[in-house]
Amino acid sequence: MDCYMKRIAKVQEKMLQENYEYLILGPSSNMYYFTGFRMVADERLQLIIIPSSGAPTAVLPEMYKEKAEIVFNGRFPLTTWNDQQDPLELVKKALHEIRNGRIAVDDTLRSSNLIQVMTAVPGCSYAPASRIVDSLRMFKDEEEIKILAEAEALADKVMEKVQGVIRPGMREKELEFFIEKSFREIGADDISFKPMIASGPNSSSPHHISCDREFQAGDFIIVDCGCIVKGYCSDITRTFCLGKATDEMKKIYNAVREANEQAFSALFRRCSTEEVDKEARKIINDSGYGPHFTHRTGHGIGLDIHEAPYLVEGDREQILPGMVFSIEPGIYLPGKYGVRIEDIVAMTAEGPRCLSKYSKDLLEL
Ligand code: CO
Ligand code: CO
Repeated sequence: MDCYMKRIAKVQEKMLQENYEYLILGPSSNMYYFTGFRMVADERLQLIIIPSSGAPTAVLPEMYKEKAEIVFNGRFPLTTWNDQQDPLELVKKALHEIRNGRIAVDDTLRSSNLIQVMTAVPGCSYAPASRIVDSLRMFKDEEEIKILAEAEALADKVMEKVQGVIRPGMREKELEFFIEKSFREIGADDISFKPMIASGPNSSSPHHISCDREFQAGDFIIVDCGCIVKGYCSDITRTFCLGKATDEMKKIYNAVREANEQAFSALFRRCSTEEVDKEARKIINDSGYGPHFTHRTGHGIGLDIHEAPYLVEGDREQILPGMVFSIEPGIYLPGKYGVRIEDIVAMTAEGPRCLSKYSKDLLEL
């Protein structure tokens, strides 16, 4: 059995436990995870329908038939429709015209596609697929962790290049383009998200969109970026200082760094996602900047840049081997500046392993 059929068997077990008749996947990271088939979502209906037992059925536009046959390699039946046809009949058939069943639907399936499905089998109840899929995808095997480490190593390399080119007068968008180009040059398949460059007062916004602002002496510059290798994402954040840091800048930088390091240390004892968040938050509260740490401490990472588990109050998932997630505390002072330091950490049987190796020292460039 290949890894995809094993994953399908595992999710079917879960579906039986939780009383789901079908799992419907759209073109998404889930489709890739369970079939190895990578598609881009568009208006045409593309589905993989996994029953709680038996073989899945693919319902795809005819134009993808050749590619799908190669990827699926006879593992499960493929039904196709062309642009002159309505795929509804194929969906009905794949769902055995079920009535009153429970169906889990890919979280990112387009609502127009979901409405097609709901029309095909009226009377069923629906739930997001994440409820059954997350518990599988959250635990990465050795091969997945190896790829995530490779992707993070490329992020380290790009951060080093960034350190070398940052200078006064450079625009945020210029650095953004430099990062995208650098990832491609060193062998990444793609970027995992648009690089976020937040300089000076822009750095007080945790999710700033890079703009035309020019870097100036005295700026904090938050650089948050990552790439994709074989489908898996990386994510790293470092905050540079252009010129000399003031005492306050040093103070908030050190608090964020300590929060990052203490959160990592917490992983050496058995703890939950919520406890890691608490650990980071405690350091920042003690430094007096608690209200300025405005987001969760971290998120899982894998085929998606943000996925389960989430390191946030109220999320009591035990941290176990196979989980890979970010630790990214930050302090943001409105109108002034902000600092975030983000690493990717893999929990292994031997303990936590930080995949990000780039220095966390305050760099005054
Ligand atoms: Co992140
Ligand atoms: Co990030």
